[in-house]
Amino acid sequence: MNYANKTILTGVKPTGTLHIGNYVGAIRPAIELGHQVNQSGRHVMFVADYHAVNAIKDAPLLAQLTKEIACAYLACGLNPNHSVFYRQSDVPELFELTTILMAYTPKGFMNKAHAYKAAVDKNIAKGEPQDAGINMGLYTYPVLMAADILAYDTDMVPVGKDQVQHVEIAADIAGSINALYDKEVLKIPTSFLTESAQVLPGTDGRKMSKSYNNVIPLFAEDNVLKKAVMGIKTDCQDINAPKNPDEILLYQIARGIAPENVVGEIKEGLEKGGMGYGTIKKMILQAITDEMAEKREKYMYYLSHFDEVEDMLQAGAVKARALAHPVLERVKDAIFNR
Ligand code: TRP
Repeated sequence: MNYANKTILTGVKPTGTLHIGNYVGAIRPAIELGHQVNQSGRHVMFVADYHAVNAIKDAPLLAQLTKEIACAYLACGLNPNHSVFYRQSDVPELFELTTILMAYTPKGFMNKAHAYKAAVDKNIAKGEPQDAGINMGLYTYPVLMAADILAYDTDMVPVGKDQVQHVEIAADIAGSINALYDKEVLKIPTSFLTESAQVLPGTDGRKMSKSYNNVIPLFAEDNVLKKAVMGIKTDCQDINAPKNPDEILLYQIARGIAPENVVGEIKEGLEKGGMGYGTIKKMILQAITDEMAEKREKYMYYLSHFDEVEDMLQAGAVKARALAHPVLERVKDAIFNR
């Protein structure tokens, strides 16, 4: 893809302690994309802490999760001198823009938004009133997300499938503002699915998720990591039986995290038969250690020197505000006829 002079933006919500699935599905692709984009365009990456407040009211917990995610991105290679990297709550322009966008957002859009609908479905399934426990932050969260995107004249938003609709809502809101004032007040963003992102199965074969208790933690100590990898579910086929790798959970996990040559070796070992599951687990463990050892050290450093990270985030917020300010002025000029 050609990113010349384009602004690419990603937001990440701090929701839980990080696992290898987050790394393979979100962190690694975002950082790779950042490196590509920064050659000729602008990469914006932020920690969506105001989005998280909708769900997390435990302040020390939210602070800790926000810290962890900022440190994780930096440890895994995000370059804060190249990417604009900040915490959403440090950019007040976003909230002013959110208020403006509210007046142009049909309420029906919110009724149809996935996150809200999922919460309603859950309530109905439990026999509760449909809006039980749902706050206005969750209900209107696509509007804040639209502000996140529109505030920097973002061209493209890399997303997983579940977020496509939210970018479409942002594009719709921007489009109707432009139509109303008959000029390009806001840039219309598009979304694209990140190709390199993969969904990693967890140790029991379901999607890796904290709620299933099937995760391989991202920055865990050796013994914790080992326990998780050794606990990956296996079947009881004969070691010598030729197997179809695509049906073997260990292979699916290896494909997400191990280097190509190791993946090839495992594939061959399974197809021919003779390679035991214990051997494969050791290869996976080694691959994770090779990939993560240095990153874990950096992660630990950043966590224990968070003042340095804080400085980086503050510098990022200064850059983000400088980008958002003229966009906000343009919008206000249009809507107030200044
Ligand atoms: N809603 C996204 C999520 O739950 C996070 C997010 C917030 C985001 N604002 C964004 C993603 C803007 C992309 C662009 O994962």
